[in-house]
Amino acid sequence: MTTETVRFFDTTSRDGKQAPGNNHSPADTVLIARQAASMGIHIFEAGFAASSRADFISVKDVAQLVPGIMVCSLARALEQDIILSARALERALSPPRLHTFIATSDVHLQHKLKMSRSQALEQAARSVALARLYVDDVQFSAEDATRSDLDYVATVVREVILAGARTINLPDTVGYAMPDEIGYMVNHIIETVPEVREYGVTIAVHCHNDLGFATANTLAGIKAGARQVECTVNGIGERAGNTHYAEVAMALLTRFDYFGVSHAIDTKKIGEMARLTSAVTSKPIPGTLPIVGEHVFAHGAGIHQHGVLAHPSVYEIMSPESVGWEAQKFPLSSQSGRHGLQKRLQMLGYEVTTTELSQYYKKFLVIAVSKTLVSNADLKELMQSPC
Ligand code: KIV
Ligand code: ZN
Repeated sequence: MTTETVRFFDTTSRDGKQAPGNNHSPADTVLIARQAASMGIHIFEAGFAASSRADFISVKDVAQLVPGIMVCSLARALEQDIILSARALERALSPPRLHTFIATSDVHLQHKLKMSRSQALEQAARSVALARLYVDDVQFSAEDATRSDLDYVATVVREVILAGARTINLPDTVGYAMPDEIGYMVNHIIETVPEVREYGVTIAVHCHNDLGFATANTLAGIKAGARQVECTVNGIGERAGNTHYAEVAMALLTRFDYFGVSHAIDTKKIGEMARLTSAVTSKPIPGTLPIVGEHVFAHGAGIHQHGVLAHPSVYEIMSPESVGWEAQKFPLSSQSGRHGLQKRLQMLGYEVTTTELSQYYKKFLVIAVSKTLVSNADLKELMQSPC
């Protein structure tokens, strides 16, 4: 039996960029896209071509300069958006994707679009059919799917598939859903819309993190049959952000026993991608951000340092090397024990006897209580003094 794979759809330079302070230039978008291509991300949403000149150029440049990745442009379900997206995607190196969307929840229909359900249904199908005149690969998103009447979503999904969409995204636009609800929604659409299987349609999930469930919801979507996940690097995106792709990639690997699906991400490049995106957006990586933060493989307490030195599996469920993590694994503080100190001293070229270690450790504690972290320079100074 072959293992099914999940495809990663990166929206760092579209949804991620939309959030205040994350703006980045077309040239930076090309840099991120190149890294994405090199690490096995399948689809790259380079922008929302109709939203600005810069987004148009971002889509066009990624399409024409970055090989090995499917470039995508977002478009509202409007003729002018679709035509601009199609223009930006012209002459793409690899077959491109056009991603069109319309909201399906009553709250969006009434207050934002001022449209009836039947009008939105008709506009969705018309837009997909128009997009198919320009590109073979069309994705449709039912914006705010998780707050929509699921039977209506199913009707929209059926119509847009018949109009030519081959990827259907069911976004949790406002981060409202709970994991079992996402699972139910994905399953309901697969089971009640026979065209999903008939036309080999991929179901995607796109989760926001307003209640802190973006990764859990994305994984619940995968468990229920979604085979495309829409994510961003470092989880940047509207409001509380989007799903952080590295969490999903590592959850699928670390818990293959639970999910049983694979992916193509070269996880060793995760750290590099996190640092690149942080530099491009001028946003530091939060220290405790899973997989990539400065503290996530750092062991502070003496018991933990001793445990990891005895065997990494004592306190690590994945290795820092497997995700390209670069930071201090054993930061020295007043919480550190003798083992941690000895290890760092050895790293710096100092071999000490057990008695010397005890004496240096006492002096080390005096420095440590006056500082948050003890640096290599502090240790070198310490080693100059007699023990
Ligand atoms: O959150 C959302 O619904 C979106 C869509 C445009 C896919 O970003
Ligand atoms: Zn979104």
